[in-house]
Amino acid sequence: MSDGDPILEARSLAVRYPDQRGPLGGVRSWRRAVDDVSFVVPRGQTLALVGESGCGKSSTGRAILGLQPQASGELLFRPAGADGGRDLLKLPPSGWKAVRRRIALVFQDSGSALNPRLKVWQSVAEPLQIHRLASGAGLRRRVDELLERVGLDPASGERYPDQFSGGQRQRIGIARALGTEPELVVCDEIVSALDVLVQRQVLELLSGLQRERGLSYLFICHDLAVVSGFAQRTAVMKGGRLAEQGPTAEMFSAPKQEYTRCLLDAVPLI
Ligand SMILES: Nc1ncnc2c1ncn2[C@@H]1O[C@H](COP(=O)(O)OP(=O)(O)OP(=O)(O)O)[C@@H](O)[C@H]1O
Ligand SMILES: [Mg+2]
Repeated sequence: MSDGDPILEARSLAVRYPDQRGPLGGVRSWRRAVDDVSFVVPRGQTLALVGESGCGKSSTGRAILGLQPQASGELLFRPAGADGGRDLLKLPPSGWKAVRRRIALVFQDSGSALNPRLKVWQSVAEPLQIHRLASGAGLRRRVDELLERVGLDPASGERYPDQFSGGQRQRIGIARALGTEPELVVCDEIVSALDVLVQRQVLELLSGLQRERGLSYLFICHDLAVVSGFAQRTAVMKGGRLAEQGPTAEMFSAPKQEYTRCLLDAVPLI
């Protein structure tokens, strides 16, 4: 498999949630939050998933991590592989451990979601321990390398999460996600809470990691100014469905759909 081959292909992905429940708690009706969504994340590249609040971006991202029990369609991981890819929606529970090593999730508050009672180095070490990738002095060395790679002083690993700024905590979340050497990282609004300067620094970190490790990102973001210049491809969602997708530069300079045009009009800087 080479760069540009898909790392993930979604085919007619749907996610539903219980809408109405009966008196005994049984589900009476369902509501589709994601419907007939198909896209490809190319290996070594970034696909941005954009659209207004509630359009189904996070539900899509969470389905890739196996966190949406009511997802249907196909989610093929490494579809160009010899086995034709594994459908994540059909993965038995025993298959998830191996896949979770390869697909990581970083979300808006991933730094704040760290266990506040654990020192930062312990939180970064956790996935390495779960997957038995390092132990003893080797474990600490690996954690130090990860902290350094995301721009943090390894000595700061002795501190607790609440002693870091929002941007630094997001770097810790990224370090934690990188430990298992994932191939695909689902980033859900990871720079949305940061100011513009820190946003740019985190995006530069992500771009550097992509060049260095051939990482692929599904980059969920409501801010089109962030996506422009960062994601090679963009998919626009509206009301649970895909409105438009294509190369970011092309789409942003000549959007085909009125909805995409409206989103772009709301961004002053593009
Ligand atoms: N656990 C849930 N139970 C029921 N409905 C849900 C649940 N999570 C999300 N939804 C609904 O599904 C739809 C899509 O939500 P989702 O969180 O995927 O949107 P989003 O695009 O990520 O929005 P935002 O930009 O605000 O994060 C929304 O209508 C939301 O209310
Ligand atoms: Mg969301």
